[in-house]
Amino acid sequence: MKFSIKTQMMDTFKTDGVLVGAFQGEASRDDLKTMDKALGGHLTRAIRARHFEFKPGQTLAIDSLGRFPAGKIVIVGLGKRTELSADKVRKASAAGTSVMKNSGVKKFGTTLASESANGLTVGELAQASAEGAYLSSYTFDSYKSKKDDKRISEITHLTDKKSNVSAIDKGARKGKILAESACFARDLINMPGNMATPTFLANQAKQIASRYGIKCSVLGPKAIEKLGMGGLCGVARGSHEPARFIILEWMKGPKTKKPIVLVGKGLTFDTGGISIKPSGDMHEMKSDMSGGAAVLGAMRAAAALKLKANLVGLVPSTENMPGGSATKPGDVLTGLSGVTMEVLNTDAEGRLILADALAYAGRYKPDCVVDMATLTGACMVALGHRASGLFGNDEKLIDQIRKAGERTGERCWPMPLWEEYDEDIKSDIADVKNIGPRWGGAITAAAFLKKHVKGKWAHVDIAGTAYTNSENGYLKKGGVGLGVRLMIDFVEHRTGVYK
Ligand code: BES
Ligand code: MN
Ligand code: ZN
Repeated sequence: MKFSIKTQMMDTFKTDGVLVGAFQGEASRDDLKTMDKALGGHLTRAIRARHFEFKPGQTLAIDSLGRFPAGKIVIVGLGKRTELSADKVRKASAAGTSVMKNSGVKKFGTTLASESANGLTVGELAQASAEGAYLSSYTFDSYKSKKDDKRISEITHLTDKKSNVSAIDKGARKGKILAESACFARDLINMPGNMATPTFLANQAKQIASRYGIKCSVLGPKAIEKLGMGGLCGVARGSHEPARFIILEWMKGPKTKKPIVLVGKGLTFDTGGISIKPSGDMHEMKSDMSGGAAVLGAMRAAAALKLKANLVGLVPSTENMPGGSATKPGDVLTGLSGVTMEVLNTDAEGRLILADALAYAGRYKPDCVVDMATLTGACMVALGHRASGLFGNDEKLIDQIRKAGERTGERCWPMPLWEEYDEDIKSDIADVKNIGPRWGGAITAAAFLKKHVKGKWAHVDIAGTAYTNSENGYLKKGGVGLGVRLMIDFVEHRTGVYK
């Protein structure tokens, strides 16, 4: 999908289709009036007949039958002008693009970034428009014999102001890179466990590293054990697939600035281990590496965007299998931090591998560490599918991530992490145990992670948000690719490189 730009409006732009964003209560806007006139009043009639209310994401498709330069006209509602947000533009662009794609349109123009609105610059609008279009066109058909051949090849942002051109162009480029990187993460998540193994993830990391000039090193089982990563080793014991510890470094910020370290859970398949899961939805546990995919996607995006920031990505990766030498309930492991961990439930494995990655992060003397993990079903119970759980030990950091979540539409909601929760994970025979009492499971998991952290840290529990079974806006069934846009927005704002 290519993005281009024209200083021309839709009354003269000749193409397959045109996507027109329209606010509630602005039906008599000049461009709509001109179009209505050209169509002999058909637009007004269609709005009435189909009860089109300009609600966010609502679409109205009309064939111009030669009366307008564009063949297919798709009006997409943006809601009230004073309530416009980047996410509404993303969703509007997604809805419009889907209608275009389904009706066989290959190229179309869009007015979604033609002028700034409600405090959003044309650059931000173009970025959101590109993200929505690209993300909604995603399909995962690698294993289908018959591929979806409907494809949008080019989207042209229309504006009548020359002075807008460079900002729109930059915004659309950025949106495309971010969406591509999120779709790269989606592919990794959607790939089944027999293909997307820890070795495969590590090879993907090496590939993006060589393509974008990121420094990459990968540790195998021997190095992992030698370092003293008892958590990662312990979880990997039950599997025939060798574990990997992936390290990516993008140090293109000022030499004096400490890096931000991103950590992602890279559990390529979670059976639960000896504490085995019920089989019903177990197949979805191929998505238990979504945090790791988000980190790889974010590193890819940072490099492709040439972000002037210091960024490290760490992904501990293994399967959680109930093999003959698997860790058993009651076993004690010693993490890289030196903290001893009693494994009372082998299905609480994410915190064990993250413990080592968080401890490893300390080697960089980082500005801060942010981890993303499909960590607990309890987080999904607490927040559903519409927000990730947000924990941490630094209010400012938590607030920055929450704000990035609002801007990107990848919402995060703060959860408590008072020291009293530490009592809930005290072990009788070791420093900590890997499960707490029945209630508050997302919090006790975060409290466990906290034991392995030094310095500023935040944890994003994406168990409810990383994977979806319903098509919704710019999301497709399967991996969401969540965390890529969130982390880039967060990094840009925290380091002050946001443009
Ligand atoms: N990967 C799961 C969490 C999960 C569940 C993610 C559902 C996405 C959807 C994690 O490893 C796990 O199994 N957690 C347990 C922890 C419990 C044993 C304390 C859980 O949430 O049940
Ligand atoms: Mn588990
Ligand atoms: Zn898991």
